[in-house]
Amino acid sequence: MSIPDVTELTLEEKASLTSGASFWYTKPVERVSVPAIMVTDGPHGLRKQREGGDHLGIGDSVPATCFPPAVGLGSSWDVDLIHRVGEALGTETSIENVAVLLGPGINIKRSPLCGRNFEYLSEDPIVSGVLGAAIVNGIQSKGVGTSLKHFAANNQEDDRMRSSSDVDPRPLREIYLRGFQRVVEDAQPWTVMCSYNRINGVYASEDPWLLTQVLRDEWGFEGLVVSDWGAVNERVPGLAAGMDLEMPSSNGVTDAQIVAAVQDGSLDESVVDVAAGRVLDLVRKATDGAGAGAGPLDVDAHHALAREAAGRSIVLLKNAGVLPLAKDAKLAVIGEFAAKPRYQGAGSSMINPTRLDTALDEISALSTGDVAYAQGFSNALEVSAEETVALRDGAVAAASAADVAVVFLGLPARLESEGYDRDDIDLPAAQLELLDAVLAANPNTVVVLSNGGVVALPFADRVPAILEAWLLGQAGGGATADVLFGAVNPSAKLTETIPVRLEDTPAFLDFPGEFSHTRYGEGLFVGYRWYDARRLEVGFPFGHGLSYTSFSYADAAAAVAADGDVEVTVAVTNTGERAGREVVQVYTSLPGSSVQRAPRELKAFASVALEPGETQVVTLTVRRKDLAYWDIRADRWVVEGGEYTVDVAASSRDIRSTVSVAVTGDEFTLPLSRTSSMGEVLHHPVAGPIVQAAIAQMMGGLDQSAASIMPEGVDMSKMMESFPIGRIGMMGALGGGDGAGTSPEMIDGLIAMANASQQ
Ligand code: BGC
Repeated sequence: MSIPDVTELTLEEKASLTSGASFWYTKPVERVSVPAIMVTDGPHGLRKQREGGDHLGIGDSVPATCFPPAVGLGSSWDVDLIHRVGEALGTETSIENVAVLLGPGINIKRSPLCGRNFEYLSEDPIVSGVLGAAIVNGIQSKGVGTSLKHFAANNQEDDRMRSSSDVDPRPLREIYLRGFQRVVEDAQPWTVMCSYNRINGVYASEDPWLLTQVLRDEWGFEGLVVSDWGAVNERVPGLAAGMDLEMPSSNGVTDAQIVAAVQDGSLDESVVDVAAGRVLDLVRKATDGAGAGAGPLDVDAHHALAREAAGRSIVLLKNAGVLPLAKDAKLAVIGEFAAKPRYQGAGSSMINPTRLDTALDEISALSTGDVAYAQGFSNALEVSAEETVALRDGAVAAASAADVAVVFLGLPARLESEGYDRDDIDLPAAQLELLDAVLAANPNTVVVLSNGGVVALPFADRVPAILEAWLLGQAGGGATADVLFGAVNPSAKLTETIPVRLEDTPAFLDFPGEFSHTRYGEGLFVGYRWYDARRLEVGFPFGHGLSYTSFSYADAAAAVAADGDVEVTVAVTNTGERAGREVVQVYTSLPGSSVQRAPRELKAFASVALEPGETQVVTLTVRRKDLAYWDIRADRWVVEGGEYTVDVAASSRDIRSTVSVAVTGDEFTLPLSRTSSMGEVLHHPVAGPIVQAAIAQMMGGLDQSAASIMPEGVDMSKMMESFPIGRIGMMGALGGGDGAGTSPEMIDGLIAMANASQQ
């Protein structure tokens, strides 16, 4: 099908293309054979509702494979696996004739309280960006599009449709936008979804800086910007800012506003042409790609992939030798989540799964011993004291009779959802009490956690083994059994820190803000950057995850390659008895940096699968641009030169080897002005030596005895460092010691000459 050029459309037709026809469809233009296309949620499965379906309900969406939500998938740190999951998602999207799958979500987990953290990948922008790009590339390889969301700084649900995320430029660029930049540059998502919130007071849906200057001019985005559902505040300024497609439908109201604005001259028609042209491009891509995924859906193959992905998502937090379980062990499986899994979070991402495993059934299937089940606690809203005691007693009896108790704890579904945040990071008290009772009856206890956002683990020292099993999608039950019995050797690692207390978390005092403003007061110090800078104890650190085998690291080296990237190599050996996979992490820092930096920042990661005794050299590439900080004076990225520390690590707090590498900095000289400090002027390659010479001349002419009134050791030049050059004349200084002073003209001349020399 040939999609017409925008020039063939009337103004009214063009305007009509820039908002949806219904909840999930764009508008057709029948006169010139432009079809409507369907877009739908996302992200970890296809939520295709049938015509007339309600927005959030899942009852009527077509069955689709529910893969692990981002919280699980991200913990795999596995680019290849995530690409394969993306391909499967793309295939299902294509089979159902949907043009765009609305995901992935890659917002930074700023606070563990964010109700939607289960839909996001990490507290770190490199992890979010690299894994986000893998999902996008995988999905789009099947001829369908993605929607990278929620752009940007949408890190809480509270007041999400109005709240302003008030973020300083450096954290905005280095933490909150960096992952988006990576995905745009590496994967070119067909669409980017702008978020509901405001950023520094401006709605994302009408921010020309965000949607045009940064996204398109700086990063080279070529696709279409779609609004989050209902995110449009004022349509006409939004269109001019670069917000191309309003979703869902405005029933024609905002289309008419656009037409009126063109007619009264307040909006240039070329703006409408650009947005409508981008919608036509999207329709063109969709029609070109249609049919890439042929049906029917291979339910079994995708379920198997969902199980593999879930197995890679489970983090072994602790293991004092209890795991893996012997197949013939007598087990007490305790906890409602074992029989009624929590496998995804509430809200627009809820998938109607093709099937659903339970851990209880799958443990029973793999076990050759006795498996007893006790509910242990109830997730119901109202539970009587008698019922609580009876459930606990049943669990204690089962645990006493077993070799090992496997206790499934977690957050009831109502505690974490799109649309609102959590109040705390605690597991329900009844579950903690149950665990204590079980531990007293049988210390051989394994805890399996089901939660979308991190929870405090006050029992971590008392329980011999803990599996963080997140929300794992429809095949999570099987994957949990695989890991418990060792059919799968766990290899996932935390992409977010598990704190000891909510009070320790970086955003504690600034979350969720007040009066529709949230100040990102922790600045750059998000996640592990905060705990490391403040030297705080954590429950389990970022990057942590154990295996049933062990790994040693040797011969780490780092060198700058011809293209300026830093290549890090390390030999990793499987020193245990089982085959396993290790996720190697590289963190950098720059001692003596001129800007504030976290003690260590993740810059690269890679995974390696090793047989027992096997060694492989792992190569990790730190992109030069990822070493850059955002310079707020020049409004640009700057790679600072110096000797960088490179930590090769198994987690952010398990550094196995430290090397260093000399990096040449960017050629970068700040323009001088009258407010430049003496320090800045002295560092300037042209003005510096001139001023230096003038100071030397002045000092030579001074009565040296005058200097003696200063206490010994006081550094006069340091005292003058912050003095603005424009005010130097009033001090009578730099005039050559004759009292004539430095005239404003002399200073302006110096500034002009210095700046001209750098052009
Ligand atoms: C969510 C988006 C979602 C959209 C469509 C919004 O409420 O924030 O993530 O894609 O609805 O369901």
